[in-house]
Amino acid sequence: MLTGGGATPGRFFQPVPPDAGIIRRHAGSAAAVDSTMQLSELKIIITGGARGMGAHFATRLAEAGAQVVAADLDEAGLATLPAGIHRRVCNVAVEAECESLVRWAREQMGGLNGLINNAGIIRDGLVLKENRETGEITKFDAATWNSVLDVNLTGAFFMVREFAYDLATHKVRPGVIVNMSSVARHGNRGQSNYVATKAAIAANTVTWAREFARYGIRVGAIAPGMVETPMTQGMNQKARDALVAAIPVGRIGLPEDLWLAAKFVLECDYFNGRTVDVDGGLVM
Ligand SMILES: NC(=O)c1ccc[n+]([C@@H]2O[C@H](COP(=O)([O-])OP(=O)(O)OC[C@H]3O[C@@H](n4cnc5c(N)ncnc54)[C@H](O)[C@@H]3O)[C@@H](O)[C@H]2O)c1
Repeated sequence: MLTGGGATPGRFFQPVPPDAGIIRRHAGSAAAVDSTMQLSELKIIITGGARGMGAHFATRLAEAGAQVVAADLDEAGLATLPAGIHRRVCNVAVEAECESLVRWAREQMGGLNGLINNAGIIRDGLVLKENRETGEITKFDAATWNSVLDVNLTGAFFMVREFAYDLATHKVRPGVIVNMSSVARHGNRGQSNYVATKAAIAANTVTWAREFARYGIRVGAIAPGMVETPMTQGMNQKARDALVAAIPVGRIGLPEDLWLAAKFVLECDYFNGRTVDVDGGLVM
């Protein structure tokens, strides 16, 4: 049910002021709504923007006329981005760096209304690993477990919190957040830490959509299957080939496939609190 009153904690739908600038109604027809956020109106931060999908999204957004801050650990990678994209070295796992990134991005772009929460790492391993020759069983170590949580989950939380705080305190609306989950969110052998973070990101996409509705911020997520980026190029070739062979559309995903999904989340003002699997049918 659509609520007609003021902010109601815990309610999913909240009214958006008609002057919010995002819903353009055609005169005389309440049903006909051209509800698109224009990409050219975005002032957006992309974490993990130095390569892979983050760099592709940054490039596409800049081409569409958006102002873009690409933030990454990888300074050399940031330097390869097209001219016009603002770049900032930042480790999203460090709270203070996320705080200063958001402040800096607002200054550079003269405002802020978008975030693509994309930085992520994989450090795979079975919980228990048995040596085939000796039979010795070793345990997955806590430090590797935590390293993935620190970047993929805590880093994403810091960025979402700082972004929402910035918009709420500057009374800017509307705003939009795109989180990068993964089809691994449904569970995947050898990826306990990664699965935990990507499932949490999808669940918190609902949480954050509900919490930030009062500030006019939508939150959506994309869950890629297997995509051709440096992350997957580093995989064991045999495992990679087996995975690609299992994709019903018959090929690995390309960053452009995921850009189409990101663009949809950014533009569609009625998409909120959900995660879209874009995996060529890999997880069915
Ligand atoms: N490639 C895939 O098949 C795939 C599938 C599902 C989900 N994803 C997710 O999509 C996102 C992008 O993946 P990708 O394949 O482009 O990865 P990638 O490894 O090619 O790029 C990730 C970028 O994040 C940056 N990064 C890593 N740790 C960081 C930190 N602490 N602070 C700031 N930046 C950091 C890296 O330097 C790199 O530039 C990730 O969240 C990943 O988990 C990827």
